[in-house]
Amino acid sequence: MELTRAQLAQFEDLGYLFLPDVFDTAETGVLNREAHKIFAMQRREVVREKDEKTARTAFAAHYYNEAYRRLGRHPRLILPIMQILGGGVYMHQYKINAKAAFNGDVWQWHQDYGTWARDDLMPEPRAMNIALFLEEVTEFNGALMFIPRSHQQGTLKAGHDLQTTSYPLWTIDNDTISRLVKEGGLVAPKGRAGSVILFHGNLVHGSPSNMSPFDRTIVYLSLCHVDNHIRQFKRPEWIAHRDFAPIEPLADDCLRELARAAA
Ligand code: SIN
Ligand code: MN
Repeated sequence: MELTRAQLAQFEDLGYLFLPDVFDTAETGVLNREAHKIFAMQRREVVREKDEKTARTAFAAHYYNEAYRRLGRHPRLILPIMQILGGGVYMHQYKINAKAAFNGDVWQWHQDYGTWARDDLMPEPRAMNIALFLEEVTEFNGALMFIPRSHQQGTLKAGHDLQTTSYPLWTIDNDTISRLVKEGGLVAPKGRAGSVILFHGNLVHGSPSNMSPFDRTIVYLSLCHVDNHIRQFKRPEWIAHRDFAPIEPLADDCLRELARAAA
């Protein structure tokens, strides 16, 4: 999957791109089934919400699940990011966010590069996310919100929030958010399972809690240019990875093959 010049220009201008229906229902079906099996596992990579029961996020599933190993090397996710970042990329972080029906908690306003720079000493924002919806995202189940063009502000001042949710995050204060929204507005891309969002490491984003009866599972690959690898190893390896070798994409049908074998 190659991005067009118009798509590249839109990404540069707004800081994100929304691509509907990139994966089909056989592919998202197998990934979603495996995600819910992973959420039910008792392992350190599965972080719970404050209720200590509901899964919030599952890290590093490419280490222990075959479908996620394949997704982590999927050409429809890796190649567009290689195109944007201009060369080989490695997986800095890999997570499946549950945002479970009724109990999925808020993600406060933040920039991902804010965390990568402060906690991991990643030299530059030559790293970004590509996210895949495994369930339909609607206005009801905690859609991700972005402030368009906020990636052009560099790395903003942030405070380390250890309290609001079960997962620590470098978050941005309300006055800054108000100013940025006045300038750039707000968007919340919605769409079917199989849709993809890619967004700049400095794009400000967050998501509200999910009080609907619908789960909102999204997988995030955080990919970094191989020359820009992290310099500090403070966080556990399964949160901030240390294999800086360039990812070699698999064949385009690698997940369909798994779905067929499971049928
Ligand atoms: C994140 O920003 O890392 C997660 C946001 C979400 O999944 O809603
Ligand atoms: Mn984030």
